[in-house]
Amino acid sequence: MVEQGNGKNRTAIVTGAASPNGIGLNTAQRFAREGWGVVVLDLDGTAAAERAQELMRDFGVPAHGAGVDVADESSVHGARDAVLARVAAGELPPLGAVVNIAGITSPAPFLETDLALWNRVMAVNATGTYLVTRAFLPALLEAGWGRIVNMSSVSAQRGGGVFGKVPYSSAKAAILGFTKSLARELEDSGVTVNAVAPGAVDTDIRVGSTEEMEASIATAVPLGRTATKDEVSNCIYFLAGDESSYLTGITLDINGGSHMH
Ligand SMILES: NC(=O)c1ccc[n+]([C@@H]2O[C@H](COP(=O)([O-])OP(=O)(O)OC[C@H]3O[C@@H](n4cnc5c(N)ncnc54)[C@H](O)[C@@H]3O)[C@@H](O)[C@H]2O)c1
Repeated sequence: MVEQGNGKNRTAIVTGAASPNGIGLNTAQRFAREGWGVVVLDLDGTAAAERAQELMRDFGVPAHGAGVDVADESSVHGARDAVLARVAAGELPPLGAVVNIAGITSPAPFLETDLALWNRVMAVNATGTYLVTRAFLPALLEAGWGRIVNMSSVSAQRGGGVFGKVPYSSAKAAILGFTKSLARELEDSGVTVNAVAPGAVDTDIRVGSTEEMEASIATAVPLGRTATKDEVSNCIYFLAGDESSYLTGITLDINGGSHMH
């Protein structure tokens, strides 16, 4: 077994990490606070570059930000090549974790869902997770140690009921199958693959949710409230570290008890 040691000597790739109020940025900050190098990948390239500058300034860690559409293979490959070139140049530590957070939702009822919407929600959430993992996994395997953490949702497990509807639940369920199957295939390679499944978290993705919807969500949660971003990034960070060494293929529920298996 390769001993890795948290932080300082590793880089975490975090997708969807440019939104100022998002889980991705909160997660990127968590890694930076622990001394990891951080790569911010996001559709919004300007914001991704700004977030990377802020991480370097605020936490004193090496960081890199770039615009990437996780649903577009050539875009992902371009980002991968730039990151690996910076690793090879010694400007970033070797890769240690890939955290697939980029995602979009849709509250459209099923009969208002057209193929374009279905395809885009599947592409960003599910295909994006595949493409980014496929691009960076060889570097983790070469290192003999790595952590892949994928963002699902309680919507995948209980059939929506939070905000996103059929395409979103379907895409997030695909991520759970992807996670388990890849975890099994990677066996004892040193690279683990796990997922998190949050309930409602207060971010911009749920803009459009009404006060009534928010109140009914909180009422259905035994802990009586939605999750904070810290509560989600704490779990992601746990799965990215040495302490989760005997976990692979799991889905870590972060739902305040709203869905129990
Ligand atoms: N907020 C919640 O209640 C909640 C609950 C469960 C799961 N999630 C999941 O957490 C993740 C983060 O969501 P959030 O709540 O922080 O929302 P958010 O909208 O703040 O963040 C999503 C980020 O993904 C980026 N993104 C969107 N499409 C992209 C693409 N094609 N390529 C690259 N980046 C892209 C956006 O620019 C944004 O920075 C999503 O996958 C979401 O489905 C959120």
